[in-house]
Amino acid sequence: MTDERLIVALDVATREEMAHHVRLLGEAVDFYKVGMELYYSLGSAALTILQEQNKRIFLDLKLHDIPNTVAGGVRSLVSRGVQMLTLHAQGGREMMAAAVAAAGEAAAAAGTERPKLLAVTALTSLSETAWEEIGGRLPLADQVRRLALLAREAGVDGVVASPQEAALIRRECGPEFLIVTPGIRPHFAATNDQARIATPAQALRAGASHLVIGRPITRADDPRQAVQAIVEEMREV
Ligand code: C5P
Repeated sequence: MTDERLIVALDVATREEMAHHVRLLGEAVDFYKVGMELYYSLGSAALTILQEQNKRIFLDLKLHDIPNTVAGGVRSLVSRGVQMLTLHAQGGREMMAAAVAAAGEAAAAAGTERPKLLAVTALTSLSETAWEEIGGRLPLADQVRRLALLAREAGVDGVVASPQEAALIRRECGPEFLIVTPGIRPHFAATNDQARIATPAQALRAGASHLVIGRPITRADDPRQAVQAIVEEMREV
């Protein structure tokens, strides 16, 4: 039993650890997040290993550069056949639109489906104080809303957001917009270093379309059972 809205974060650095998790979870999970740690250590081999097992990939590299450079990066990544990619909305409208156009062209050239592009609005690790320190003027929640709307206007498919931001973004950006939320902690799991958390059901009710969950699954005594409990909870929403 799996749920296509569940994405398991593979926050590891070696092929062995990655293979261990994917083997253990087997058919229970078909969507994985590959982030900087794994991608910068294994490169596209990480993608190949997952694709050989018919897994879908959320490649979370948070691209942020001038439009031409981000477009080039997106083209290279699309040719590797991933399903979701991230970029920083703070790169601006032109950068996001260039990424969307490049993804469409590269997918058409490869004869594949265009991956979904997701924008990071403001990193949820930023406090109001840290935000002011780097020159932020609007309250953070307003900034998140503004960047989510800008991302949508630029043709981006959705955002990565905390469960606390999900309801606002869902209201502002409409029912089709993707909202991928980390910071999920089922009742049975430890909080770890996540501060603003929600259970899987709470996040979905707030408007999340996908959940990214790492340690509550990968560090569980029985990861498959953890997935099963999470999927059962997701099904109830
Ligand atoms: O182990 P845990 O469930 O906390 O992992 C959550 C995943 O989501 C990690 O890969 C982390 O990098 C990512 N993430 C997050 N908070 C954000 C953005 C991404 O926890 N604001």
